[in-house]
Amino acid sequence: MESGRLSSTEQALIRESWQKVSGSSLEHGIVLFTRLFDLEPDLLPLFKYNCKQFSSPQECLSSPEFLDHIRKVMLVIDAAVTHLENLPCLEEYLANLGKKHQAVGVKVESFSAVGESLLYMLEKSLGPAFIPDVREAWRRLYGAVVQAMSRGWDTHKEGN
Ligand code: HEM
Repeated sequence: MESGRLSSTEQALIRESWQKVSGSSLEHGIVLFTRLFDLEPDLLPLFKYNCKQFSSPQECLSSPEFLDHIRKVMLVIDAAVTHLENLPCLEEYLANLGKKHQAVGVKVESFSAVGESLLYMLEKSLGPAFIPDVREAWRRLYGAVVQAMSRGWDTHKEGN
């Protein structure tokens, strides 16, 4: 991934902070997605299971399929944290994951609201431990993940 290797200090800050969050990852993922729908309510219609549209973020956040998506997102973050020293090994998987998101109508730009929501969730969970260096390390890691996912977007298609 191109955005520069994370320093060993950044890696340590990320690992330490993720340890406090990953024990109850669904709960934290719900905080993340609740914030996401506050920031970008227009993302709600992208989540439909068996062609059924949710009428409110609350309804979406209580559906088993959506909770599964939250678990999937948290697992991808967990994989990134596990492979901090060798993020390029996730490159192909993430590009493919990006491709799947393009297919369901997600735009690359929407991932920045997900990033803000991730930082929000970390801030809420870590409190004073969420110092600027921790925030910056997470911003860089998330940026690397999104950059890898965005390689999966087919830029020749409309709506990317
Ligand atoms: C704008 C935000 C996002 C939207 C609207 C979105 C939407 C979706 C939808 C509709 C699916 C297919 C149905 C499902 O599996 O639930 C999906 C699958 C998935 N999403 Fe997302 N997603 C978003 C962000 C993310 C992020 C940030 C990650 C991880 C970093 C992620 C990880 C996954 C994974 C692992 C799958 C399963 C892919 C597979 O079946 O192989 N999603 N997403």
